Amino acid sequence: MLLLSPITLIAAAALLCAIHLIRCIRSPLSKIPGPKLSKFTSLVLKWKEIKALRTVYIHQLHQQYGPVVRIAPNEVSFTSWEALKEIYCSGGSGYDKTEFYDLFKIYGRRTMFTTLNKADHAKRKRILADRYANSNIMKSASVTGVQERSSKFVRRCVSAPGGVSDIFVNRLISHYAPTLHRLFSRVLYLFAKPRETPLADDYVLETSQLSGTAPFTLMSRFDEKTGDLDYIDKAAECLDHMAAGIDTTGDGLCFLMWELSQPRSLGIQRKLAEELRTNPDTPFDKLPFLDAVVCEGLRCFPPIPMSLPRYVPQGGRSIDGFWLPGKTIVSCQAYSVHRLNSEIFPDGDVFNPERWLELDGDADRRRIQFAFSNGGRGCVGKHLALIEMKTLLRDVYSRYSTTPHESMQEEAMAMSDQLISARPLGQKCLLRFHALDAM
Ligand code: HEM
Repeated sequence: MLLLSPITLIAAAALLCAIHLIRCIRSPLSKIPGPKLSKFTSLVLKWKEIKALRTVYIHQLHQQYGPVVRIAPNEVSFTSWEALKEIYCSGGSGYDKTEFYDLFKIYGRRTMFTTLNKADHAKRKRILADRYANSNIMKSASVTGVQERSSKFVRRCVSAPGGVSDIFVNRLISHYAPTLHRLFSRVLYLFAKPRETPLADDYVLETSQLSGTAPFTLMSRFDEKTGDLDYIDKAAECLDHMAAGIDTTGDGLCFLMWELSQPRSLGIQRKLAEELRTNPDTPFDKLPFLDAVVCEGLRCFPPIPMSLPRYVPQGGRSIDGFWLPGKTIVSCQAYSVHRLNSEIFPDGDVFNPERWLELDGDADRRRIQFAFSNGGRGCVGKHLALIEMKTLLRDVYSRYSTTPHESMQEEAMAMSDQLISARPLGQKCLLRFHALDAM
């Protein structure tokens, strides 16, 4: 009974608090810059996460404290190329992922994206990566599929009443796979505000049991290569790729087209239209301004702007001049990497595609471009995403110009965190489409 007396309980709590405080103060991380509270508690960070403001909060901390910031007792954020290279590229695929990625398990199974350690990841990637190689993406079946969906999207936008279309709601996603979009929201609804979406379980679970799938698909690859994966593993993997590829590409295009539609970007739209109209049949790799617009869009509005958390390996590592013990959580976030390295991206907050056309510094810009992450765990769908984005931009800006609808407020397009990706706060993006030939 004595053990449970209030005095004993208070004394035990005080002792635990004192031990926690001493540990925090004596932690090897104590020399790292950051708010004093972050030394003792992660509550502020958690509060910002709940308010969908984690990315902006960490960005402000980097502006205040510099390229290395302690954001919680056991968590540090970085912005430099050296840190990025160490965390995401050392040993090929960088440090192991943290349990944060458990949130993305599908049907309780781990996919390539959610495997935490190098060995399991490498095993899965060996099976799947081939399907996303540029040589496969450029095959006519994939390119035609992207082209058809892009044309359909543009037709829908321009035939909307008054040529005004909500490109957030009408995004590519609802054309590629409406059912899958709904499922993804369902998985995440506990953590983020859900989007209106239909279910996809029946679709992926049924198709993952079929044979004779088209030769360029993930499913046909599974037929060739998998030994110990059952149909639920295969369905989870397919669903994951669709979830990973749909919102990201759609949100990136949405923010980019909003920026292009602003009066300040009129000259950029004109230059883009000129390149596209004078080179209607030219392959994408010969359209430098289109490439510059896409690179700058992904720099200013990375669809995954947030921290990609990793564990410092056993034994500890030194990153950016600070010693970090094993199991410290470390990360970079694309939003800050792209805007705060001013020697590589001067005037980082300004949308300026021209910077990507300068030969000077080209290699530095491309290697620190973090929208698709970097190293062996970087985005496997990068080539597909770029083809999708370029196809849609070509279809729109070779024939139309866009302006924001009068009802749209700038604040509606502020970035709102969605667990790992970001979407416009107002969840709409109304644009007016004007046919160029009629102007
Ligand atoms: C603009 C569009 C896209 C962006 C910005 C993007 C960004 C990213 C990023 C940052 C990661 C690393 C995430 C992390 O480490 O936590 C990633 C991984 C991944 N992405 Fe993408 N992605 C895009 C489109 C796509 C597409 C179209 C697909 C496939 C259809 C795809 C499939 C994947 C997969 C499977 C992974 C996990 C890779 C691995 O762990 O090895 N992504 N993506």
